[in-house]
Amino acid sequence: MSRPEVITSTTAELPCDAMVVGAFTQDGAAVLASRVPGFDDAGTEQLVKAISDSGFKASVGSVLVIPTLGMAPARAIAIAGLGKRAGASPKHVRKAAASAARLLADRVDVASTLHSAVDSSAHAAAEGFLLGSYKFNKYRSDPSPSKTQRFAFIGAPEEEVLRGSILAEATRVARDLVNEPPASLTPRILVERAREIADVRGLTFSELNDKELEDRGFGGITGVAQGSFEPPRLIHLKYSPSGATRKVAIVGKGVTFDSGGLSLKGLQSMMDMKTDMSGGAAVIAAMSALPRLGSRVEVDAFVPAVENMPGGRSLKPGDVIRHYGGRTTEVLNTDAEGRLILADALALAAENKPEAIVDIATLTGSISVALGNKIAGLFSTSDALTDELRNAATASGESLWPMPLAEEYVGEIDSQIADCKNVGSRFGGAIIAALFLKAFVPQEIPWAHLDIAGAARSDKDQDEISKGGTGMGTRTLIRWIEGRAG
Ligand code: BES
Ligand code: MN
Ligand code: ZN
Repeated sequence: MSRPEVITSTTAELPCDAMVVGAFTQDGAAVLASRVPGFDDAGTEQLVKAISDSGFKASVGSVLVIPTLGMAPARAIAIAGLGKRAGASPKHVRKAAASAARLLADRVDVASTLHSAVDSSAHAAAEGFLLGSYKFNKYRSDPSPSKTQRFAFIGAPEEEVLRGSILAEATRVARDLVNEPPASLTPRILVERAREIADVRGLTFSELNDKELEDRGFGGITGVAQGSFEPPRLIHLKYSPSGATRKVAIVGKGVTFDSGGLSLKGLQSMMDMKTDMSGGAAVIAAMSALPRLGSRVEVDAFVPAVENMPGGRSLKPGDVIRHYGGRTTEVLNTDAEGRLILADALALAAENKPEAIVDIATLTGSISVALGNKIAGLFSTSDALTDELRNAATASGESLWPMPLAEEYVGEIDSQIADCKNVGSRFGGAIIAALFLKAFVPQEIPWAHLDIAGAARSDKDQDEISKGGTGMGTRTLIRWIEGRAG
């Protein structure tokens, strides 16, 4: 999907359709965070009066647009609220930029000094503008895309703006994949998207097709896919920068549609199930950014891609499958399919002996009961890895909350006839799912699992989040990988 260009500029006298400047809340009123480019003392005084007369309070995400009536090179000034100065962080700049971008969607040329209000926030401003202006409208005969063609950052460090743009563009790639209807994003089409991205960005692409998956014993992936007309695939992307000394693996759930299989979902819960490849989308999108950022860590990315459908050949409750590596699972609920395909992919990822494995998946409705739909669950066998991921998430404006891999509940997935079963109690469902996965990762490899079932989709536009697929986890994965360079 077309996106606005992001540039840096040193001149403040830039003619533009709108100039975005930050403001803080002070004593219940708005105060400008910096001088407005192109305004002399008299003009500034008038602007300050206009802001005060409007009653604008500069709360985070609020934006006030004031026309300049020919007094400045900019046709309008957009005052973007950052809240109180004391607590202001790049996160607030990201939100303010996103709100401004959304409000100014009909302006072609937008300039901004927003980043100058908060230290080291130019990357967040770029992320905010590019994420707030995101829209998925390729299937509308009357598309109303954002008309903005250019965001110009005045006096911002070019490198930082570029970094923010790359992170935001990756998130937009993930959103586009998630928002695509399931008929036009089958496992085979997801493979083609991944291949295109790999070609453009210089990643190594490979795949395992249905026959190869069968022959090599990926019983979780082939089992879930067997009720569908669409054959399964396992995508493998590799990024190996020269001289890399560190190596990690990421794994993303790629269920391109989850009907539940024979354990069929109800109509309400099936409605959004094209979202079920969001983990895979985040993984592919994150990989697309690494070469551009010059990350120095080697990364193997795996996305098992399947459609989960009822059919004459579907897995049946009671069936036993054999995963890659030999472990067996008694499948008692075919709707707990994500863990079945991830189990195979985790076992494969571990073979290459990475220093850490992170998987990301829309795994359980239970995680949104626990954490709502703005926070993802973070399960990990390593405290250090937990800290790394939480820091990467904070820097990205994404929320992760640590959840327990509570041994109390492992008994829930004991099976009479196989190594384990794929469901236990409804209570603690997200924990039980994470415990199921844990058995497929060798103990000596630090592992983390992100359950993004709640946060992968939003029912409304809010700040940098857009309605539909959110691209959750994309930026956290990128920042985590970059941080592993040591
Ligand atoms: N894809 C779903 C989880 C999900 C739910 C994602 C809501 C996004 C929004 C997953 O495959 C699933 O069906 N999980 C079941 C597990 C249960 C059968 C143990 C669930 O959460 O109900
Ligand atoms: Mn399911
Ligand atoms: Zn699912």
